[in-house]
Parts: sequence; structure tokens; C-alpha cells
Amino acid sequence: MSNFNRESVLSVHHWTDTLFSFTTTRDPSFRFRNGEFTMIGLKVGEKPLLRAYSVASANYEDRLEFFSIKVPDGPLTSRLQHLKEGDQVIVSRKATGTLVIDNLEDGRNLYLIGTGTGLAPFLSVIKDPETYERFEKVVLLHGCRRVAELAYGEMITEKLPNDELIGELVRNQLIYYPTVTRDPFRNRGRITDLINSGKLFSDIGLASLEPGRDRVMICGSPALVHDTRALLSGKGFAEGNHGEPGQFVVEKAFAER
Ligand code: A2P
Repeated sequence: MSNFNRESVLSVHHWTDTLFSFTTTRDPSFRFRNGEFTMIGLKVGEKPLLRAYSVASANYEDRLEFFSIKVPDGPLTSRLQHLKEGDQVIVSRKATGTLVIDNLEDGRNLYLIGTGTGLAPFLSVIKDPETYERFEKVVLLHGCRRVAELAYGEMITEKLPNDELIGELVRNQLIYYPTVTRDPFRNRGRITDLINSGKLFSDIGLASLEPGRDRVMICGSPALVHDTRALLSGKGFAEGNHGEPGQFVVEKAFAER
């Protein structure tokens, strides 16, 4: 049996000239945990061209969603960005990854720190009712250079709070905090700086990060991951992994080179 399913593209949305999302059909046998990634791609000639992508849809939804950058010379994304409804993509039958709530010890508040397309795994995590059972408050931080790059903002603030399954949980427990570094906006600055200065916590009305109470997931560029890991380790947070839950977990966002 092949390790891959063929799925049809159902919709494509271009956020900016460098960011887009698309949805596909989902083979019912494809199982994943919210926050995981899988390999997806296209057949180029006879060969599959594949890259890792976080699944941005929740594991109870009947379509798959992916959030991607467009790299002008990227072997896959230079092709993927031209996807149209009805096109076929290849999706691995397996998913994996560390950004799952089972890899975290119990705690009161869950912070999801994503920059750029590093938001993707958290879109799935914030749609999971179990996330709200495990944590009292779920703080979703999305950091981008530009306001136009704050993809999914409307879905998070308009659609999810009215969702039949998780609307009430989202209304009561989710705090969305978008921030940008290179445009005027209501929240400005790098997430690490907002944590260090305490501005984040006065804005959202929670106490500063503390390993006895808070849990954190991180997904972004290698630099963001490095600096946030150092910040948390400096506060005494222990990193978790498969089979060894911790106080924070990390994955670098998948970017094509
Ligand atoms: P900045 O504009 O100051 O570089 P990128 O597109 O490079 O992945 O960046 C996405 C967002 O993450 C930007 O707002 C960027 O801020 C921020 N960022 C980049 N590197 C770091 C880092 N090491 N620590 C915190 N924030 C970062």
C-alpha cells in the first residue's frame, strides 16, 4: 500500500504575495493529533516533491488545511502557490510532531507562540475541545513583520467564537494577541520583548510566565525558537518531548530553502 494519499484541492486563499492557504479533501483513514505535521507535495515528473507542513485544520474536520509561504525559487512552493481548485496534492498517511498537548505537563495557562506560518499548528490546537479541558486560559500569540501577514485573524475573532462545537470555550478561554514589528498596529514588538518587558501580561491581564503554572508551545523561525527557548530556560522551564512531558515544547516552522 502506498504511504501517500492523493487529495483534491477544495479552495485556495492568498493572504499576501508571500503567504497563502489551501484546503483539500481528507482521506478518512488519515489520522493525526492536533498540532502535528505531515509531508505534502506534488508529483514532479515521476517523483514526489515533498515538504513538511503543519496541519492547520482540526482532526475532527473533514477537510485538511495548510498555511504556506511562497518562496520564489523554492522547488515546491513556487509550484504549490499556483494550485487551483480540483488540482491534486500528495499527502502522507502519517503525521508526527512535538506540538501536542500530551507533551505538556498539566498547568493553568497555555501560551502558543507562533511567528509567520508558525501559526499553523496552533490553529489546530485552538480548535481542539481538549485544549480547553486541560487549560483554563489559552493565549495565542502571533508575531509577524506586517499587519497583512496576520493571517486567520478574522477566523479567530469572528468565526471561532460562534462555532457550534467550540464557540463557548473560545469565548471564555481563548486570548488572541497578534503583534507586528514593522507596521503601525495596536500591538507592536517581538513576542520575546513583549514577554521580557511585561507588556504582554499587562495587556492580557495575566501574571508573568512562571513554570509552576504556565505551559508554552513555540513554532517559528530558528532564531525565534532559539531565543524563546533561552528565555524560558532562563525562567526555569523544562522542555518536553515525546514520552517526556515538560513545561514547554518547540518546533521550528517549516520553511522551504
Ligand atoms: P523582526 O521584524 O524584528 O525581525 P520572520 O518573518 O523573520 O520569521 O519574522 C516573523 C516575526 O518574528 C517578525 O515580527 C520578527 O520580528 C519576529 N522575530 C524574528 N526573529 C525573532 C527572534 N529571534 N525573537 C523574537 N521575534 C523574532
